[in-house]
Amino acid sequence: MEYFEIHGGVPLEGEIKVFAAKNSVLPMMAAAILAQSGTTRINNVPDIADVRTMSEVLRRLGAEIEFDRQNNVLWINTENIRSYEAPYDLVSRMRASFLVMGPLLARFGTARVSQPGGCAIGARPVDQHIKGFARLGAKVTEEGGYTVARAKKLIGNTVVFDRPTHTGTENIMMSAVLAEGRTEIINAAQDPEIVDLAKMLNKMGAKIRGAGTSIITIDGVDTLRAVEHTPIGDRLEAGTYLFGAIATGGRVKVKNVSPASLRTVLCKMMDMGAEVTTGRNYVAVQMRGRPRAVDIITDPFPGFPTDLQPMIMAALTIAEGTSVIWERIFENRFIHVMELQRLGANITISGDRATVVGVENLDGATVMASDIRAGAGLVIAGLAARGKTVVKRVYHIDRGYQRLEERLRLLGASIERYDEN
Ligand code: EPU
Repeated sequence: MEYFEIHGGVPLEGEIKVFAAKNSVLPMMAAAILAQSGTTRINNVPDIADVRTMSEVLRRLGAEIEFDRQNNVLWINTENIRSYEAPYDLVSRMRASFLVMGPLLARFGTARVSQPGGCAIGARPVDQHIKGFARLGAKVTEEGGYTVARAKKLIGNTVVFDRPTHTGTENIMMSAVLAEGRTEIINAAQDPEIVDLAKMLNKMGAKIRGAGTSIITIDGVDTLRAVEHTPIGDRLEAGTYLFGAIATGGRVKVKNVSPASLRTVLCKMMDMGAEVTTGRNYVAVQMRGRPRAVDIITDPFPGFPTDLQPMIMAALTIAEGTSVIWERIFENRFIHVMELQRLGANITISGDRATVVGVENLDGATVMASDIRAGAGLVIAGLAARGKTVVKRVYHIDRGYQRLEERLRLLGASIERYDEN
């Protein structure tokens, strides 16, 4: 198993361009299933484990995939799909595999996808996805740990989510594009990656309006064709470097990211005392001295993203004052707290709230990543801590970041990857 060794205390400084958003690329790879002809091309795709897992899911269905690692270009041809099943060994590795359900059902009228089960950050049910497929006329059953959906032809309908779900909105959008008539998704998630996916689907020939608002309207069409698409830059990768700069008293400019996708986050950064500047497609922060404490509530977009909660928490551990972080999306997303305590952070948890009493310094220690974002939060804490920090189980981080250590070295960090053997 690989680990990172970080020598902290060096301010992050410099410029970096982010890759395409992981959470745009994964649904777009699933959307390629909808193209009856041609080859889908996706640009600026990060070379990460989750993209490899989704590629494997598509290959098992019969798709042809090529990835140009040098140029980060991915090609997908789904003309010869001959299986409609996403098996347990892949879905259990990555929940987003469940995103193939909507497109398979829409194009072939049948899909069999392993139930994802819980993961490190929470139970994460898929009941809202399933309810949506049923509303479009699919017969959905549970068979031996698999969700099986069948429909001769999906029929547009109103789908109301009990709460906004990011991949749920994408799954229903991708199943409704080939349905007969109009579908309305009410209480849809509004994340920028959903807008990005709708843009790609519309290029393919779909008729989607309202993505980015809480009501999305989809008028079904008969066929869709393959297109080339360059997804938006990854706001979460960007946020990781920006909080890295704040935690280390540095100065970083992140390119290829829309400031609008980070608006709530940038306001918090300013409240923390960072100087924030933005342009059409970049965000820069500069931090002098210790951050100030702020309170955070994670919420669906445009609220503060749960995916940046571990990173802001890492920066707040050394803030002046006391911060309260209220995690409202995932019930178990505080596993990194115990690890931050190993570095000397003063954090107490009460239910879904963490109280962070800022300390003057963190001190290096050995810690363990438990999911992508917790891992990134620990790396930031290690960059801010005095002395040596070892972050174990880097494979979690590799699911969502292409060679995070190389990218941070571009910003002056002292971080190396080693193999335990
Ligand atoms: N939920 C349900 N029922 C459902 C679906 C969701 O109760 O059918 C609940 C979830 O358990 C959670 C809340 O609704 O409490 C919101 O979950 P959501 O469905 O929005 O999450 P997701 O679609 O499974 C995506 C991202 C996650 C990100 C969340 C929240 C992708 C591939 N994944 O997951 O990203 O944390 O939205 O913004 O888009 C990551 O990138 O590290 C990551 C975990």
